[in-house]
Amino acid sequence: MTTRERGQVFGELAEEYDRIRPSYPAGLVTDVLELAGPGPVLEVGAGTGKATALFAAHDIDLTCLEPDPRMAAVLRRAVPGVPVIESTFEGWAPDRGYGLVISAQAWHWVDRDRRNTLAFEALAPGGLLAPFWNVFLVPDRELHTALAEVDARHGLDGDHSPHSLHPRDVPDVPRPFAEDWPDLAGIESLFTDLRTLRYRATRSYTPAEYRAHLHSISLYRMLDESRRETVIDDTIAVIEAHGDRIDFAVHTLVALARRPA
Ligand SMILES: C[S@@+](CC[C@H](N)C(=O)[O-])C[C@H]1O[C@@H](n2cnc3c(N)ncnc32)[C@H](O)[C@@H]1O
Repeated sequence: MTTRERGQVFGELAEEYDRIRPSYPAGLVTDVLELAGPGPVLEVGAGTGKATALFAAHDIDLTCLEPDPRMAAVLRRAVPGVPVIESTFEGWAPDRGYGLVISAQAWHWVDRDRRNTLAFEALAPGGLLAPFWNVFLVPDRELHTALAEVDARHGLDGDHSPHSLHPRDVPDVPRPFAEDWPDLAGIESLFTDLRTLRYRATRSYTPAEYRAHLHSISLYRMLDESRRETVIDDTIAVIEAHGDRIDFAVHTLVALARRPA
């Protein structure tokens, strides 16, 4: 299966995705809107609207792109009145110059060879591109090691699972943009004012909640059903043996890039 197909598995459980997936920090929304250029806002890969609802609460002219009709149906219910276009970013042509393009946990699903140019073309001069992601870290070293063993046993260790990072994997001090964002390489050829915004929070799941969370992750959805259930059973067994919850430090990172004025 190609990466783009993997990006289309979320609709298989749109309602459950909406129930279990985390939202984003309110401060991120106000900070990004303050830095945006004037004009309308475009969201790429809006999903069921976890970020959309936060942005739509502000007085902005917001349009969403979401290619999966099952996700789009939940999105329309979540943010009535916000236009939703059922399209990938690659399949859509800009209708006007946007002051801000956001993408929550979805920019990695857009064709990496085209996404910088597509964002540049969607933005008005001076407009801001702001993709962001929640990064989950397991601070408990013993639990982190035990979960890493389960992942390695099932061959998931090469492909980040949602509990594969320990706080030591994410430096405390800000790094140069290119080091923070190796996957965004090439962005500097079109954009300026490159910088990262960081927000920190904590999140805790019961084993049942974490089981549902794992079911919503594309890495697990890509496994055939019996393998998926075995891996998830083994993961949850480790959490239950360790205590009655799994606690995360959650860092939300925003990559900012401005189209030159
Ligand atoms: C992990 S979900 C994130 C959804 C939502 N933004 C959130 O924060 O929960 C990724 C979303 O990107 C969408 N997607 C996948 N490929 C895409 C593409 N090429 N262009 C735009 N959206 C895409 C998927 O349908 C899915 O809804």
